[in-house]
Amino acid sequence: MKLIHTPKDIRDASRQWRAAGRRVALVPTMGFLHEGHLSLIRLASEQADAVVVSIFVNPAQFGPNEDFAQYPRDLTADLRLCERAGVDAVFQPEAAQIYAADHSTWVVEEKLSQPLCGESRPGHFRGVATVVAKLFNEVEPDIAVFGHKDAQQVLVIQRMVRDLDFPIDIITAPTVREADGLAMSSRNTYLTADERRRAISIHRGLNRAKAAFAGGERNAAVLRQVLVCELEQAAARIDYVECVSRNSLQPLMLVDQPALLAVAAFFGGTRLIDNVYLDI
Ligand code: PAF
Repeated sequence: MKLIHTPKDIRDASRQWRAAGRRVALVPTMGFLHEGHLSLIRLASEQADAVVVSIFVNPAQFGPNEDFAQYPRDLTADLRLCERAGVDAVFQPEAAQIYAADHSTWVVEEKLSQPLCGESRPGHFRGVATVVAKLFNEVEPDIAVFGHKDAQQVLVIQRMVRDLDFPIDIITAPTVREADGLAMSSRNTYLTADERRRAISIHRGLNRAKAAFAGGERNAAVLRQVLVCELEQAAARIDYVECVSRNSLQPLMLVDQPALLAVAAFFGGTRLIDNVYLDI
């Protein structure tokens, strides 16, 4: 497995693979890899012949009062996991290689990035879209793999790829959960034992709402309330609970089209997100 630090070297490696007829997959990550990332890597290996995992904690997608400095990092463990998973190259640039000191060009998706996390994390999706566009230009992959847990991120990136004509197929993979249902996230490491126990209310609430939907409930306010009740019982601080169209991310009153029930909630100082698809 190659460990590559510069955009030039990863582009050269990728071009060599592609010249030899190999299909290249990119799995963009911020490191501190867990089973969720490994599922993306497995999917990438199934669909391509060479897999690149990027590890970069992207400062541009964190707000000034967010956890950029504390974000967990463990390159040694990440490299071990990537090696074991059969990854061909890890691309681990320094921030200075990604953002010039006078960087002044941004990729801004203007619709899908507005609601939900866009509202509570101003600038977040501008940072995500910009770094993903840069990684796409640096790695030049044929496909890139993202997880459903970040459902809004997937939609923003799919829109960017369509609107800016990136010749890249976006592949998505289901959320991987702990045994008790908590969605895997590098941020779960911030939780105290008590917060970790209470955080299961997210999955419980989403499941209950999904069961109500399966039982015929189509009123979005009722479905939201099922989840809100679970979160309130667990003393979570709710950032948002929204039932939105899966195409536009606009709120629905009636779930009469593919929908997303999405949540962001704080347990202590830790903000967790999760979602379920509601399909007619
Ligand atoms: O999902 C993430 O870990 C990040 O948002 C991504 C896509 C790697 C961009 O920094």
